[in-house]
Amino acid sequence: MTQEAPFRARAEIDLAALRANVRALRARAPRAALMAVVKSDAYGHGMVPCARAALAAGAQWLGTATPEEALALRAAGIGGRVMCWLWTPGGPWREAVEADLDVSVSGMWALREVTRAAEEAGRAARVQLKADTGLGRNGCQPADWAELVAAARAAEQAGTVRITGLWSHFACADEPGHPSIAAQLSVFRDLVAYAEKEGVEPEVRHIANSPAALTLPESHFDLVRTGVAVYGISPSPELGTPADFGLRPVMTLKASVALVKRVPPGHGVSYGHHYVTGGETTLGLVPVGYADGIPRHASGRGPVLVGGEWRRVAGRVAMDQFVVDLGPDRGAVEEGAEAVLFGPGDGGEPTAQDWAEAAGTIAYEIVTRIGPRVPRVHLHEHEQEHEKAGGNGVTGTGTASGD
Ligand SMILES: Cc1ncc(COP(=O)(O)O)c(C=O)c1O
Repeated sequence: MTQEAPFRARAEIDLAALRANVRALRARAPRAALMAVVKSDAYGHGMVPCARAALAAGAQWLGTATPEEALALRAAGIGGRVMCWLWTPGGPWREAVEADLDVSVSGMWALREVTRAAEEAGRAARVQLKADTGLGRNGCQPADWAELVAAARAAEQAGTVRITGLWSHFACADEPGHPSIAAQLSVFRDLVAYAEKEGVEPEVRHIANSPAALTLPESHFDLVRTGVAVYGISPSPELGTPADFGLRPVMTLKASVALVKRVPPGHGVSYGHHYVTGGETTLGLVPVGYADGIPRHASGRGPVLVGGEWRRVAGRVAMDQFVVDLGPDRGAVEEGAEAVLFGPGDGGEPTAQDWAEAAGTIAYEIVTRIGPRVPRVHLHEHEQEHEKAGGNGVTGTGTASGD
């Protein structure tokens, strides 16, 4: 491990694991290109270093939700194909066109705005038409598809737009056998066929997110858009563990125990006194709270590895701290001891999935919500040359670089 300077809390981001995850995903979808979805600060892992690591491991595309995220990738010097899909009226269309982003268009208003921006910029915009094949969220309704395709084709013929992609998004890909999966695929195929009949020649047709990339080869088309799996998290425990898919969790969240103290029996712990000591015991103060993204819903339940054992959050998670009961025999735990909230799990620590279960949510939310007050420390950033294609569980002497 790395030589660690004292710290309150840190999220270690194992970029060797991320690169190995990208390679494992490419092997699962060998005929499709891979988009690493790096929105929301790479699901809390730090967007720019994760984007670079994903590209180094063979991702051909990067995907973000907002145009601002995509423009931040460009500002960091990242070239290549970058797509962003969550637009609102008046968005930075001109900047996006000038930055050569692939922009998603779900309706006529967006096509009008991007066409105007392309005219002003004096160059064609790369546009991907998004269909709502059943998710009921963003995307053009099938009933409105013909109008959108016709207008986009007209813009293409006028030279303001290049239709680079046709795409959609699943509602229930993480529920194997859900009838909506086949239904969405069928609608998608029809809408793609219609657009192609009207003269659209997309570079990429895509619908698969992580669960679909992992379990539905028939959904891969030309590109898979993988987010959570890149970070080594299984989209759903029902589908399998990360190891079942050759993936390894990338984030390890640690804190340093801030205080260890003896307390008598019957001592209330944290706001509301929802935990009361059963006998004389030792309490350990863990200096992270809901301001750092630790879910308050995990009060009384969240697991932490301290002193070689799992402890549970005793009482409520507060804004900046929570407490664990170390028991009457405090063992070797002293101030400064390492508390591991979650990580890959093979060091005996809990995983983000364990926290998700403790908080009644999904592992996506656990990692993504880790707040900006927790420094991300990117490990194994420059070791690509030592790695063998297809391997995982990559280890090595780390060089820590805060980001
Ligand atoms: C449009 C779109 N594509 C792909 C993804 C990646 O999903 P996942 O993290 O399940 O791979 C997301 C994330 O929610 C998304 O919004």
